[in-house]
Amino acid sequence: MSNRMWGGRFATGPDAIMEEINASIDFDQRLWRQDIRGSLAHAAMLAETGILTREDVDAISDGLKGIEAEIEAGRFTFSRALEDIHMNVESNLKDRIGLAAGRLHTARSRNDQVATDMRLWVRDALDQLDEQVADLQLALAEKADMYAGAVMPGFTHLQSAQPVTFGHHLLAYVEMLARDRGRLRDARERMNECPLGAAALAGTSFPIDRHMTAKALGFARPTANSLDSVSDRDFVLETLSAASICAMHLSRLAEEIVLWATPQFGFVKLSDKFSTGSSIMPQKRNPDAAELVRGKAGRVFGALQGLLTMMKGLPLTYSKDMQEDKEGTFDAVQTLSLCLAASAGMIRDMQPDLKTMKKAAGLGYATATDLADWLVRVLKMPFRDAHHVTGRLVGIASAKGVGLEKLSLAEMQEVEPKISDEIFAVLGVERSVKSRTSYGGTAPANVKRQAKRWLKQLAKD
Ligand code: ARG
Repeated sequence: MSNRMWGGRFATGPDAIMEEINASIDFDQRLWRQDIRGSLAHAAMLAETGILTREDVDAISDGLKGIEAEIEAGRFTFSRALEDIHMNVESNLKDRIGLAAGRLHTARSRNDQVATDMRLWVRDALDQLDEQVADLQLALAEKADMYAGAVMPGFTHLQSAQPVTFGHHLLAYVEMLARDRGRLRDARERMNECPLGAAALAGTSFPIDRHMTAKALGFARPTANSLDSVSDRDFVLETLSAASICAMHLSRLAEEIVLWATPQFGFVKLSDKFSTGSSIMPQKRNPDAAELVRGKAGRVFGALQGLLTMMKGLPLTYSKDMQEDKEGTFDAVQTLSLCLAASAGMIRDMQPDLKTMKKAAGLGYATATDLADWLVRVLKMPFRDAHHVTGRLVGIASAKGVGLEKLSLAEMQEVEPKISDEIFAVLGVERSVKSRTSYGGTAPANVKRQAKRWLKQLAKD
């Protein structure tokens, strides 16, 4: 049998392999809500403009609502022979209401239909992701507020650099996530135009009201160019770009959690709820959730790369290649959503080991910059000279295998005679972080203020 939706000019139906490669219903059935919502708006507009009779549109709308209820209840059977969500819905509508079902597709094509469905789906996804990123920010800001003054090592090149506070470190992620949310919202703002009514590619000769359907579907306005409307998948690409950057941030955080949770670092303990054991080594507590957040970032990047590659050679307007925009997108959004939830859970449960962190903060001559700064401030030495003197002192301490605070005043004065015993006060890690009061610096009072600012801001969002 030839296809019931488009088989007029065909003598036979498709080969089984043709059907398999062509069908998208296995994955686009998740667009059912968007598809029905779009059809209801389109039908209402067709009645309002007098293109269809009120009776036909009432029958169409009732039928669509019946289908919605049936899918919702899990009683609807999707058919591969009907290719995609659009034709599955329309075919079922025909079984329900007969001839009038065929009028729904007036002044519409699957090309503008699928573009509309995808925009509706992506828009919801952006809103949901934004909410989840905000929740992770909250989890981080709450911990930051609690540990605003907890000293830990700050690293560059993963080498001890200068002491910072745990709260400061966590708030760095809150800032990154804020930019991620900005990107999600930018994408939403730009994508919020309705392609419905572009029809196959050229618009339609029917007197449709695209402003009406755009408004009914919550879009700011209809898209302005019919060719662009059915060709454009930028809105998916922007979403995947924003999602990729966010997944990259989560992956960096996850990597740090993996490091921090090792017995060698010992900075944090993950809860039982977010750790796993080993089937052979009884002592193990593995940070699998963090590792998976780190690993799954690759899938999100893959979706972006896949879609960019798929789109890059397509002439205007619609080509069936574009059906390939869906699986990667659905997977990326679902993956990022899971990673956000897992990250928030891990952070909320995570217990820092303050003593271990503080001890580690003093390792690796992390207060050497404080010493150099003292030479500049008190002895009025140019910073470059102070850097050199401090370097020599570090060299001596390192050769002796001790910290800077363990050098005697005499040993220090051998390098720089003007050094007084006041200098020992700046070698402590607490003192070091307290002194970093410049705007955005790690001084506990700063961190506390920033944490409070975020908590207030997040309560408003
Ligand atoms: N299932 C198709 C997709 O997802 C719908 C659009 C089909 N349009 C067409 N001209 N064959 O892209």
